[in-house]
Amino acid sequence: MQIEKSSVIIGLKKPVRILHVTDSHVALTDERDDERKRALANRFGSPDREKYLYEQAEYAGRNCDLLVHTGDLTDFVSHANTEFAREILKNEKIFFIAGNHDYSQYVGEAWEDKAYRMNSYMQMGGGFGVPMFFNSRIVGGVNIVGIDDSYYLFEDWQLWRLKRDVSKGYPVILAVHDPIFEESLYRYHRQRLPDEPTYLVGCDEEHLLPYSEFRAVQQRPDQPTLRMIEYIKSEPAIKAVLAGHLHFSYVSEIRPGLPQFVTGGGYNGVARELTVI
Ligand SMILES: [Fe+2]
Repeated sequence: MQIEKSSVIIGLKKPVRILHVTDSHVALTDERDDERKRALANRFGSPDREKYLYEQAEYAGRNCDLLVHTGDLTDFVSHANTEFAREILKNEKIFFIAGNHDYSQYVGEAWEDKAYRMNSYMQMGGGFGVPMFFNSRIVGGVNIVGIDDSYYLFEDWQLWRLKRDVSKGYPVILAVHDPIFEESLYRYHRQRLPDEPTYLVGCDEEHLLPYSEFRAVQQRPDQPTLRMIEYIKSEPAIKAVLAGHLHFSYVSEIRPGLPQFVTGGGYNGVARELTVI
């Protein structure tokens, strides 16, 4: 297990400690799944993915107020993955918001949109048994608000719910799967992986230009998404954003004074301990 440490100063009387974990990509299969799905189990990463998650949960239990998991807890939909997720999310110290893989049937085999997501959600018997599209919890005087943006889009109902959470009067830490576009992160990603899109939410047309047509269509923001990003950037109660999806760590600011902490892959044992002071 590898823990990176970060802090954000917002003037709390007593610090709140969050263990940010993301992209565990647990990949369990058994005889209830077909051959194709079983072959996915060895797709990538360390075989210790569940072990890391148990270790991270144990560490958070001892040292932190909350473990915030920003999605891709599982790599694809399978019976055993759903059972595993439902079991570990019974831990009251774990707060979860979904990522794209949590709804993925065969990883990249289909166009994934709201209908696809709902099909998987219903197949799982109501997802992982916890809120997956929007979630919020007040801990130690901070409101942790999770919003599912895993298809690079926000929806107007999510903005409505976020505003309702902001109106509770607590400082807000946002938890999302896909990071929000920010110039230095975009450039860093392009240098690191020049042949890939950057998988950020809210890229404008200029920044979508190097993408393939498929990726540009997939990652182009719509009006509700732009409205949400505008609100996140302008609402002073929002103090930090936690995100994953990229499988590498990067810290920058979406606007001056609003940090975005992207944390590396939980499947590699990486986590971030964020102290909110
Ligand atoms: Fe992801």
